[in-house]
Amino acid sequence: MEHRVFDDPQVVQQKMIAVRKQGKLIGVVPTMGALHEGHLSLVQQAKRDADFVVVTIFVNPTQFAPHEDFDKYPRTLKQDLEQLRELEVDLIFTPANESMYPPGYDTFVEVVESAKRFEGVSRPAHYRGVATVVLKLLNITMADMAFFGQKDYQQCCVIKKMTADLNLPVRITVCPTVREPDGLAMSSRNRYLSPEERTQALVLSRSLTLAQELVDDGMTDTDRICRMMREKIETSPLAQIDYIAIADPVTLEELATISARPQSQTTGNSTRAVVLLAVRFGATRLIDNTLLF
Ligand code: PAJ
Repeated sequence: MEHRVFDDPQVVQQKMIAVRKQGKLIGVVPTMGALHEGHLSLVQQAKRDADFVVVTIFVNPTQFAPHEDFDKYPRTLKQDLEQLRELEVDLIFTPANESMYPPGYDTFVEVVESAKRFEGVSRPAHYRGVATVVLKLLNITMADMAFFGQKDYQQCCVIKKMTADLNLPVRITVCPTVREPDGLAMSSRNRYLSPEERTQALVLSRSLTLAQELVDDGMTDTDRICRMMREKIETSPLAQIDYIAIADPVTLEELATISARPQSQTTGNSTRAVVLLAVRFGATRLIDNTLLF
């Protein structure tokens, strides 16, 4: 095994305790591998912000439901390690299932309200698995900061809530969604799309752009905005909409109207809402979102 790659949680934790003792700030980028430019952008941000960067690669079984794609989730460790070598990551953690969840494993973390809506409806135990594994990874890597992608907006909200509620001494940084040149958000699951589905999937980013245009034109009624997004997505015959929702960007509570734009753009955050969607193309379920300003 390459000298920077470790699979034993205890060994990694001991190493990280030593790194901390040197006074270095530790940044972690949790992933499930099958790395693409989206993941690598998080690593680059971590390299800018931290003194010591850890990338974790672990396809976490507890966040997949029995009928989901755990077995066929892409595993491309060799290519992943090559990409990370180029970026000069300090440590790569690739645990086995049995070392993360040994026989008799019995502890789970549940972020209650923010995990229930949107993704939580069709994936009820998903965020319980995500929160549990992320807390374990933070503890093993002793991270001062952790980096996540806006692509998984609700996941970021759940993790921020866990971090605040459990007083974790870690700063969560959310990095922008990296897209293909034509607008499709990069995802490990895009490789499942047929060429026809891939073309039709462009309606997702286009419907998000439409939402911002409607808001720019003064529309504030979220039902109307969602209806027009739905009409746009339904121009793709292969698209099956799971949900389209407009919500408060922090609490994720659904909004009936989008609040007026702040008078002065100089006073703080001008984010008014987040629009989130999940759409199936054949067997592949894609998610995307954008902040509305
Ligand atoms: P995974 O899907 O591998 O994603 C790892 C990280 O990369 C997440 O923070 C995700 O939001 C980010 N990411 C994915 N696509 C992106 C894109 N196009 N642009 C920017 N960031 C992107 O999310 C998970 O793994 C898991 O749930 C995990 C947090 C590792 C827990 O198992």
